[in-house]
Amino acid sequence: MRMVLLGAPGAGKGTQASVIADQNGVAHVASGDLFRKHLGEGTDLGKLAKTFMDKGDLVPDDVTVKMVLERIAEPDAAGGYVLDGFPRTGAQAEALDAALVSAGQVLDIAPLIEVDTEELVRRLAGRWICRVCQIPYHEITAPPKQTGVCDKDGGELYQRDDDKAEVVRARLQTYQALTAPLIDYYEGQSKLVRVNGQQDVEKVTADLLAAVSASAVS
Ligand code: AP5
Ligand code: MG
Repeated sequence: MRMVLLGAPGAGKGTQASVIADQNGVAHVASGDLFRKHLGEGTDLGKLAKTFMDKGDLVPDDVTVKMVLERIAEPDAAGGYVLDGFPRTGAQAEALDAALVSAGQVLDIAPLIEVDTEELVRRLAGRWICRVCQIPYHEITAPPKQTGVCDKDGGELYQRDDDKAEVVRARLQTYQALTAPLIDYYEGQSKLVRVNGQQDVEKVTADLLAAVSASAVS
């Protein structure tokens, strides 16, 4: 299974991608997580990415495309992947399509998780992330069993720098300007499926898995 998971900042892409990838035995490839990993390791790419991420801007296409295409060429992604946060521009979508063609592969589905703006802001303000596995929690709707500690691996939970209110506003504007046009792009390829993201996490997962099954038989 090869999936592009679309949705605005805070829509639940990371929450859902990790479950769907685990359940289908495919890789979860999140461009934001890859940038944050570079940042944690102090690489030049991480330092470059931070200058864009801190303002709510997109990291330039050339470095982003290279990083993600290299990641999906790794052995654990050979059987498929869930892309989370990539592509985010028309140029990135075209680069992914070209890579799929040259590998003789196809994208199966591009679900869009739909959530209204007020709810997105509320979710990002209360989000905490594991430093080790990057799984997101929410202080009200999805708290960890022990405050500040990841249920899965005991990692420390932290709040992302780009979840500050002013950066969230910029990220939402960037999404509308540069990423929302991909909805038409994937609709044009008959890959788009709209999923209501304002339901319990488990119900959103069930709807996404139903869409995957439906796409496999069609
Ligand atoms: P990235 O890390 O991809 O951030 P994003 O797209 O802004 O999305 P988020 O991670 O904030 O939200 P999400 O949809 O994953 O939601 P989550 O599951 O965490 O990108 C960060 C930055 O990196 C970008 O701004 C850019 O600078 C750069 N970048 C990344 N990719 C790039 C690219 N391709 N090109 C260029 N630059 C790029 O959920 C949010 C919260 O809601 C959590 O607290 C969660 O517990 C809660 N929640 C989830 N689902 C539900 C539910 N159903 N009900 C209630 N609460 C829920
Ligand atoms: Mg995310």
